[in-house]
Amino acid sequence: MCGVRSIPINKSCQTLRLFISKCYGRVLSHMFYSSFLSRSTYKEKRMASIPLVVATICFVLVVRGVPSEAQLNATFYDDSCPNVSSIVRTVIEEALVSDPRIGASLIRLHFHDCFVNGCDGSILLDNSSTIETEKDAFPNVNSTRGFDVVDNIKVAVEDACTGTVSCADILAIAAEASVSLAGGPSWAVLLGRRDSLIANKSGANTALPGPTQNLTVLKSKFSDVGLDTTDLVALSGAHTFGRAKCSSFSARLYNFSGTGEADPTLNTTYLETLRELCPQDGDETVLANLDPTTPDCFDKNYYSNLQTNQGLLQSDQELFSTDGADTIDIVNTFSSNESNFFEAFVQSMINMGNINPLTGTEGEIRLDCRKVNDDSSGSNNPLYSSI
Ligand code: HEM
Repeated sequence: MCGVRSIPINKSCQTLRLFISKCYGRVLSHMFYSSFLSRSTYKEKRMASIPLVVATICFVLVVRGVPSEAQLNATFYDDSCPNVSSIVRTVIEEALVSDPRIGASLIRLHFHDCFVNGCDGSILLDNSSTIETEKDAFPNVNSTRGFDVVDNIKVAVEDACTGTVSCADILAIAAEASVSLAGGPSWAVLLGRRDSLIANKSGANTALPGPTQNLTVLKSKFSDVGLDTTDLVALSGAHTFGRAKCSSFSARLYNFSGTGEADPTLNTTYLETLRELCPQDGDETVLANLDPTTPDCFDKNYYSNLQTNQGLLQSDQELFSTDGADTIDIVNTFSSNESNFFEAFVQSMINMGNINPLTGTEGEIRLDCRKVNDDSSGSNNPLYSSI
């Protein structure tokens, strides 16, 4: 059993961003009205120029990436689908009974969705005549899972509020519920994303980080989507639960970087255990726990594992074992203080969830997360006949 807790979340940054978007709107209307002041004094004219300065500052902030996130908010479905979060949570609770790994698989779907074209539900689309599915991209194929549970969630949500909640938002809510149900933090998920009409398989092949990549590459893939080093270390903490196949780390056990030797950063006892689980030329689909100490709990043990050289993936251990890296101090902080990790994790999940969402009239609210609404291309269409 994992402890279930809830922590207060520092929303100052979020609030500031929302304020910026609101202040920009107010300043524009102030400017509009001030231009109608016909007999203004010099002082009044000077006063009227202040909003222009503020507007310019706001504009710069908005253009530098704030706007999309300001469009999401925590109350988006309060009127249209007030029970959406508890519906999602209940379906996941039911799934966890027979599949203790499912929470980990669901948060990973949100991550793999957001890094490719933004958080737009694109990862959920199946192949069709217009869609080349991201599910077949190298980081996803035979690896991402939980699509059937997303379908179950979608059916339950559609039943309660037809055509209202996007698949992209379902992934964001499912990620929060999964963390919370595993004993991690709870937070107010920002909502209002819409679903894409396209997928990007080649984007999934290039944008998603890989388990044998070094810290420089990991940082650059995060920075490509506007996430910084703290986001990288905090979000990697999701490897506190879930599993990885032998194929994701076996090179570390037998032939690290073509040396014919094991990765020298691997704890030797842990190396032996992993070699037993994943013998050379054995079944590469065998699963190992990403966190050998508390496999299904969301806690800070991922970071203490790194300190004892028990990171499962090379990409995990890079955060602590790269000489002189700025990530080492962050790992040490999170390892010594769970609240600190949880707060950072929540902020980074919000940052990740804000990557380039479709909002307003962009995209659509898919009725079936696996296909776009007007898919008239194939056997998914009830009107389609092969005769
Ligand atoms: C930093 C770069 C990252 C790399 C290189 C990476 C790579 C991987 C790999 C290779 C696996 C195992 C796949 C398999 O063997 O089938 C995995 C699993 C997982 N990843 Fe990551 N990941 C990264 C970041 C993240 C982030 C940001 C999250 C979420 C916020 C995340 C959540 C997970 C979870 C929960 C699992 C286990 C899934 C399951 O059991 O089904 N990862 N990751």
